[in-house]
Amino acid sequence: MSFNFTEEQQLIKNMVREFAENEVRPIAAEIDKNHRFPVETVKRMGEIGLMGITIPEEYEGSGGDTVSYAVAVEELARVCASHGVILSVHMSVCTYPIYSMGTPEQKKKYLPDLASGRKIGAFAITEPGAGSDAAGQTTTAVMRDGKYYLNGTKIFITNGGYAEVFLVLAVTDASKGLKGLTAFIVEKGFPGFKVGQTEDKMGLCASSTTEIILKDCEVPAENVIGNVGEGFKVAMKTLDGGRISIAAQGVGLAQGAFEAATNYSKERKQFGRPISANQGIQWMLADMAVDIQAARLLVYQAAQYKDLHLSYSLPSAMAKLRAAQTAVSTTIKAVQIHGGIGYTKSYPVERYMRDAKVIEIYEGTNEIQKIVIAGHILK
Ligand code: CAA
Repeated sequence: MSFNFTEEQQLIKNMVREFAENEVRPIAAEIDKNHRFPVETVKRMGEIGLMGITIPEEYEGSGGDTVSYAVAVEELARVCASHGVILSVHMSVCTYPIYSMGTPEQKKKYLPDLASGRKIGAFAITEPGAGSDAAGQTTTAVMRDGKYYLNGTKIFITNGGYAEVFLVLAVTDASKGLKGLTAFIVEKGFPGFKVGQTEDKMGLCASSTTEIILKDCEVPAENVIGNVGEGFKVAMKTLDGGRISIAAQGVGLAQGAFEAATNYSKERKQFGRPISANQGIQWMLADMAVDIQAARLLVYQAAQYKDLHLSYSLPSAMAKLRAAQTAVSTTIKAVQIHGGIGYTKSYPVERYMRDAKVIEIYEGTNEIQKIVIAGHILK
């Protein structure tokens, strides 16, 4: 398996790097400080084709492959991890599942707005009692007069305050356990849909994380995605793809922190020489570089498996686990190399360190990835 980029993948990497450096870097510290969702750069991500990067052109997407998409998230997160997760959630856990599992009518209705970035997407599965135990849903969906009525509260919904299209998991038949769950496409404008409180988070402060409250939320029967009773499988397949781009976010973020630490170690002088002359610093930089490259190769491998239509549940869990661990360990080292100033907001590494932690938690904790990996080993 080769990991040389194709010409198109390299062009996308260059284009996203230029966008991230010129348009995202100048606002990255400000949007973090003000907990501000970057409406203007998200709109630009639509204009340059990122919001529909793996969606065919017939639906106003860019028709790119998963490797290009992973590289795009990586390049965004290298500069600002909030931008990385905004794209990842919009693309992997809302837009793509509508493309891969939706009916022709659903695709026609929803994809052009999502793939062009005119509308933002989100995924509403987590509930107060259903985190790692994704099957423990309590949101109900009851059919009445040809429509479904959804009742329940979803929490920690990334893009929640700005998304207009949500993929929502709910219980249609409590007696059937996992086979009684169904996935729905829910619009923000449907009667009974409300955005609840916004979380005040430790990191990823420019991404919007909210509650979603569904009170007799009226959803047309044709908005079921997949079949009734197959919602858990829809959710698991969706997460298999989502974990590749979240892993790419971890790699990009780690790369950004690593570059900042490398540069600082060459500038900062102590005991009459740059601190990079010390073997202790050199060993840290070497460990960081190896960890990042190992995680990156796992991400590209998982993306390539998806592009080759091979089963990617195992490679995506491996990539997500290793990239999350790498993001946390690398950003901690980056702050250490900066010393006291690294603990202040004068340099971006404290932001990278705060942003990294959640990668070990969302889209399945490290422990859940190990359960998925062990499940494949032992089956
Ligand atoms: N693809 C298709 N089907 C799958 C599947 C997959 N990847 N994984 C499991 N299934 C199927 C199984 O085959 C099984 O089907 P049958 O009954 O027909 O055999 C069924 O689903 C149940 O499988 P399990 O017994 O393995 O299910 P489980 O209840 O033990 O749960 C789990 C498995 C892996 C722990 C799962 O609950 C899980 O992934 N939990 C983590 C949830 C998560 O990642 N949440 C993220 C929220 S979204 C988010 O974070 C977005 C963001 O903001 C960034």
